[in-house]
Amino acid sequence: MMAEFRFDFAVKDKNLEPENTSENANDKLEHIFGTNLVVEKVASSQKEDSVVKAQELIVDLPAVEDKINPDDIDVISVGNVKINYINSTGIEAEVKIEHLEHHDEDNKTDHFVTAVSNHYDLISGVYEGGLKVWECCLDLANYLAHESTLWSKLDVLELGCGAGIPGVYLMVKGAVVHFQDYNTEVLERLTVPNVIMNQQVKKKDDEKKLGHTCRYFAGDWSDMTSVLMTNGIQNKYDVILTSETIYNVNYYDRLHTLLQASLKPSGCVYVAAKTHYFGVGGGTRIFEDFVNKNGIFNIKSCWQNKDGLQREILKLEFNRSIES
Ligand SMILES: C[S@@+](CC[C@H](N)C(=O)[O-])C[C@H]1O[C@@H](n2cnc3c(N)ncnc32)[C@H](O)[C@@H]1O
Repeated sequence: MMAEFRFDFAVKDKNLEPENTSENANDKLEHIFGTNLVVEKVASSQKEDSVVKAQELIVDLPAVEDKINPDDIDVISVGNVKINYINSTGIEAEVKIEHLEHHDEDNKTDHFVTAVSNHYDLISGVYEGGLKVWECCLDLANYLAHESTLWSKLDVLELGCGAGIPGVYLMVKGAVVHFQDYNTEVLERLTVPNVIMNQQVKKKDDEKKLGHTCRYFAGDWSDMTSVLMTNGIQNKYDVILTSETIYNVNYYDRLHTLLQASLKPSGCVYVAAKTHYFGVGGGTRIFEDFVNKNGIFNIKSCWQNKDGLQREILKLEFNRSIES
């Protein structure tokens, strides 16, 4: 079935059949830092009934640890911390091999594999781009590294975490971090290994078992408050981080509702994103307008990069004038 066309580019329609992407087309796509939201496919369909249901992931840490392939590990520096992370090229290769070994019983997995195998940046409602490391997450991690805040023991949630580099940085600095991604596969293949590797570095330093309190949540934001719980009580966070997650205006309402439900009254949210996602429609200005219209949060731009494509970090805090 052909879906409604909404965007000029950037989102693959999950209802379209897998296509062979030529080597040339693949060459055009950049995957690691410095990439824009770049996909040559046109179209989008969001079906409310087909979003991924939220769930907490119970992780078998030793099993994940065993699967980490040293060839897939890269390192970046954030402030004075060296962060190990799994590069997406290795994961893409693994996903392809597994796909050849066990061909799809399940349609969703098949779409996920299609996205990865064809280097699509995302397939709306199926795979939201978490396997790649997007450039704004580094802006955010570096911004946090220059803040004078004492992160130790703060409750932090990273929404749409993908590799989770900003959250991993705060974990190393002693925060208790919960990670959320749309896709279970992203958490299993990328986020959890990244957490484990950086816990180990820290453990060697001072024998502390940092990160054992990390938790992982998969699924759509519209369903997330039902699982962001501890002993039946809604989790509230001091800091919520999110990077490259405001490209799609259709998701603003559910993201905003989740932020409102999950932030402590004194907490703040950092949103790192491009000023405009060409062809997709979202961006920092349009998100700012959305937030201002709702009146729940005050929002300000706290960092901007003016070189090349504009990138920003927005900070949201509850609007105290509406408190009862
Ligand atoms: C482009 S990726 C960015 C990944 C990572 N934050 C980074 O900067 O590298 C967008 C992320 O937003 C999340 N996301 C987008 N729409 C979502 C939705 N409706 N519900 C839950 N997560 C969503 C996905 O988890 C995805 O990993």
